[in-house]
Amino acid sequence: MVLPAHAYSGRVFSGMQPSGNLTLGNYLGAMVNWVRMQDDYECIYCVVDMHAITMWQDPATLKASTREVAAAYIACGIDPTKSILFNQSQVAEHAQLGWIFNCVARLGWLDRMTQFKDKAGKEKERASVGLYDYPVLMAADILLYRATHVPVGDDQKQHLELARDIAAKFNNDFKAEIAAAGHSSGIFFPQPEPVITGPATRVMSLRDGTKKMSKSDASDMSRINLTDDADTIATKIRKAKTDPEALPSEVAGLSTRPEADNLVGIFAALSGKTKDAVLSEFGGATFSTFKPALADLCVAKLAPIGDAMRRLVADPAEMDRILANGAERARRLATPIYRETKDIVGFVGG
Ligand code: TYM
Repeated sequence: MVLPAHAYSGRVFSGMQPSGNLTLGNYLGAMVNWVRMQDDYECIYCVVDMHAITMWQDPATLKASTREVAAAYIACGIDPTKSILFNQSQVAEHAQLGWIFNCVARLGWLDRMTQFKDKAGKEKERASVGLYDYPVLMAADILLYRATHVPVGDDQKQHLELARDIAAKFNNDFKAEIAAAGHSSGIFFPQPEPVITGPATRVMSLRDGTKKMSKSDASDMSRINLTDDADTIATKIRKAKTDPEALPSEVAGLSTRPEADNLVGIFAALSGKTKDAVLSEFGGATFSTFKPALADLCVAKLAPIGDAMRRLVADPAEMDRILANGAERARRLATPIYRETKDIVGFVGG
């Protein structure tokens, strides 16, 4: 059962794409905060399958990945009887509000999105229109529920700014209708707050400390997947790129050492400490001491998550039931907001 919204300090919405293995970056950059926020906020956690198809996805694999990502949410500590857990395509209003927002957002705003440039690369003409439009659908995801807080990794900052711009422009474009509908504050869509916090808001590749850890990197050694077994995790940490120096005693000493900085950040996030605290323990130690400690910590935290994921995906019918139940609860929140949006815009009918 979902507690009434007034029992919470706000409404959270966030999502992950089922476009490959979830990584330690997804876990530390977003999921850890999702789990933490469950007690204080009404939380809606979505598997964004419609975002995933902005790049080609094999249909059978997409289905399996959708269930696997939902399983990862639960394995990491999302309680589907409390938070709403569903896949985006089951709630049609995401696409419908996305269309209205297509007509609010400006081309110039989307032209500035760096993630599109990174993902489309040199072959911009061959990228899907959906990939370009991706941030508009993301704004619809959030604003369809009038979410107030969005816990994400650092790479989503620009997309959230766009969602805020869309909310502001909508409120301004339809000022008169919003007032006539009884919203005396003039605010129909609130400005969603990004929640980008913790010592690992940007986890970097294990092979190159200047590149983000990503499920789409060609090298599996660049990332730790939530489904990696203990041996694989330990091997990846052991082989992670580093420099020959010992660890510094203070954070300032990491500023020109991206790989060392990344590993210290991962250790801090996994142990719930600050980077300072990690360096006061390991300052002066070489990587031959630090890496085994980090590998043990990774295995201790991630191996149980991988095990729980495997147990959950072994019962796809149960995963589908959880997603359908979440979708129904999401729809109940979304329908009245979307209906009012249509009326404000000037669409006839319910
Ligand atoms: P996705 O699937 O690419 O990433 C999911 C979440 O993981 C975070 N993340 C990272 N954090 C730190 N270090 C990394 N290396 C790293 N890699 C990924 C991302 O910042 C993200 O929080 N566009 C979203 C999905 C989405 C969404 C939304 C999010 C669709 N609609 C509405 C919030 C609200 C994305 O990046 O997915």
